[in-house]
Amino acid sequence: MINSSKQTWNSDNYANNARFVSDLGAPVLDLLAPKPGERILDIGCGDGALTQKIVAAGSDVVAIDHSPSQVAAARKLGLDAHVMDATHLIYADEFEGVFSNAALHWIKPPEAVVAGVATALKPGGRFVGEFGGYGNVSKIREASIAALNARGLDGEAANPWYFPTPEDYSALLSAHGFDVTSAVLIPRPTPLPGRMADWIKTLAQDFVAPVPETEQDAFLQGIEADLADDLQDADGNWTADYVRLRFSASFKG
Ligand code: BEZ
Repeated sequence: MINSSKQTWNSDNYANNARFVSDLGAPVLDLLAPKPGERILDIGCGDGALTQKIVAAGSDVVAIDHSPSQVAAARKLGLDAHVMDATHLIYADEFEGVFSNAALHWIKPPEAVVAGVATALKPGGRFVGEFGGYGNVSKIREASIAALNARGLDGEAANPWYFPTPEDYSALLSAHGFDVTSAVLIPRPTPLPGRMADWIKTLAQDFVAPVPETEQDAFLQGIEADLADDLQDADGNWTADYVRLRFSASFKG
């Protein structure tokens, strides 16, 4: 499995259509419980909204993200942010904690990420995070795959995400020298700030990219029509069927 997602990140689109992703990160920050003077690595920092909070706790934070646009936005906040592929981390034995919110479902192969985190942590260091878990956005994913299949395209091949069960992710962590403290699925139906089509255009570009540009609006309207009964209320408001996997693990060294 390789990371073949064509997803690109525009920090303005993200702020308009997905700001709630970092807004909902407070509980996983609490689980990290960063302390003054600790060195923390933030994987998939996005525009730095949550990274700033770890810095505010007094920790010394290095933030990485695959997206130059998001890293530029994070640097504007004064953060020590770098463009880096989390399957090729460059750190060894230097962090008390590694943190990640809403990023690990994008990064394949997950084995390479967990191996790099284990190398980056000091013995006894912690890996704390939250990302899409088994069943995440399953209605949106299924409708998108079906819409591509109906056009004679391979919908499943376009699926960019890794949404493991707690059992599978715990096994992966254990295999790389971690004691898993907790790993749980958290269903979190999430109201969207705008249309479902805007969420898909911002966060699920891999499902739209195979469709010719002139046909994309109709394609997205078709997906919305398919999802409306399940995910739209009588006033027209959309909700995404999020399910998070929240975990905490300690590196044995
Ligand atoms: C998530 O944060 O769970 C998520 C974000 C983008 C696409 C799919 C899931």
